[in-house]
Amino acid sequence: METPINREIVKQEIDKMGLESVGMASIRELNRIVNNIETATGDAFIRMEMGVPGLAPPQIAVDAEIEALKQGVGSKYPPFDGIPQLKTEISAFVKNFVDIEIPAESCFPTVGSMQGCYMAMMCCSRRIKGKEKLLFIDPGFPVNKLQAKVLGLPFAHFDVYEYRGDKLGPKLESFLEQGDVAAIMYSNPNNPAWICFTEKELETIGSLATQYDCIVMEDLAYFGMDFRKNYSIPGQPPFIPSVAKFTDNYILLISSSKSFSMAGQRIGMSAIPEKLFHSTGNNLKSFFGSDRFGYAYIFGAMYALSSGVSHSNQYGLLGLLKAVNSGEFNFVDHVKEYGDRAGAMKQMFTQNGFKIVYDMDDDKPIADGFYFTISYPGFTGVELVEELLYYGISAISLSTTGSDRHEGLRACVSLTGKERFNELADRLTRFQADHPEGSDFKIIHA
Ligand SMILES: Cc1ncc(COP(=O)(O)O)c(C=O)c1O
Repeated sequence: METPINREIVKQEIDKMGLESVGMASIRELNRIVNNIETATGDAFIRMEMGVPGLAPPQIAVDAEIEALKQGVGSKYPPFDGIPQLKTEISAFVKNFVDIEIPAESCFPTVGSMQGCYMAMMCCSRRIKGKEKLLFIDPGFPVNKLQAKVLGLPFAHFDVYEYRGDKLGPKLESFLEQGDVAAIMYSNPNNPAWICFTEKELETIGSLATQYDCIVMEDLAYFGMDFRKNYSIPGQPPFIPSVAKFTDNYILLISSSKSFSMAGQRIGMSAIPEKLFHSTGNNLKSFFGSDRFGYAYIFGAMYALSSGVSHSNQYGLLGLLKAVNSGEFNFVDHVKEYGDRAGAMKQMFTQNGFKIVYDMDDDKPIADGFYFTISYPGFTGVELVEELLYYGISAISLSTTGSDRHEGLRACVSLTGKERFNELADRLTRFQADHPEGSDFKIIHA
């Protein structure tokens, strides 16, 4: 049977990579295979496998960085914990959009929020003797588990799909009561499922974190991107929901990659509340030379990892944050486009026999954002990843994200502009025609 992309070439490129299963490939491996197929066939895929921004970086940030470079900052080491003006703007940013007061001292830039996650894991898991386990509320970003593995940290996880609302507390407690959990981690909005926790769920997480003295690592990689509410006006409600409202045991990990389209710059932000920053831990000294949490963070972890963030880059972010904090630049408007794409693309998938896997936020339909999750009757996710390659569509299996929904895929909207919607619709129509529900698809490409 003819498929939109030459199936012999697809098969050949898959085989060349020598993977046990293309459906279980990591994001980067799949990315490589699709690049190779595109080169070999000359056909452009609908690329939904990687979560990369598809929009240009804000000119304000570009100009501010260029100006700093011209001023010669490139020859000077930056302070580990960030240039003072940036620390102040990060603090104001958190106040303006989350409505939480965190002093500038404990707000600092990191090399992408990825480094922020790594530092948070290092410090949280070495804070209190006997408490070193991480608990991931899944599905989640696979690289965070890689970080835990690289650090040699034990971790547990569960898929939150069956534990929304009132069921979340008892489920969390079943882990926390074992007494060894150092930190709980989740992303909100969630990568890959685009779940956004409700205030009630955040309250549950926060109060349990206080009760069991563990730290919530709240990964806000998609800051302000739940487009159902307008979080874009500085200092005005509604504010971005956060566990910060319900506990002092948290670290905010904020990325500039998606919300500000600055992924290539590798600059993110961490914010630690004053009480935690100035607290002590009985296990910190042997690792970081001080038993003070904030000191361990900056003069232990940050010093050891990268000794700060590229100097000019900090000025780029500073320029942008000033414009955002003053209301001159509306960062949410800049990325709203993703939500519009998701709405249209989800409709195309569902009209062609696909289902949305994570479809609800407790009792409300899930928002349209950067990612959505899909399945097709009769396929496991691993099978569907491969089958869609023949139709020129690439996405990753949810099985790589800690999800229990092994039938699902994560699809990212960022690289598919409206100009490609007709092509996507055609390919999906072909897919459905070739795979009438209930038929054994395997005969097609056996
Ligand atoms: C949930 C989550 N956390 C962290 C990151 C990494 O962010 P950064 O590019 O700021 O390192 C991503 C990027 O995809 C992400 O999805």
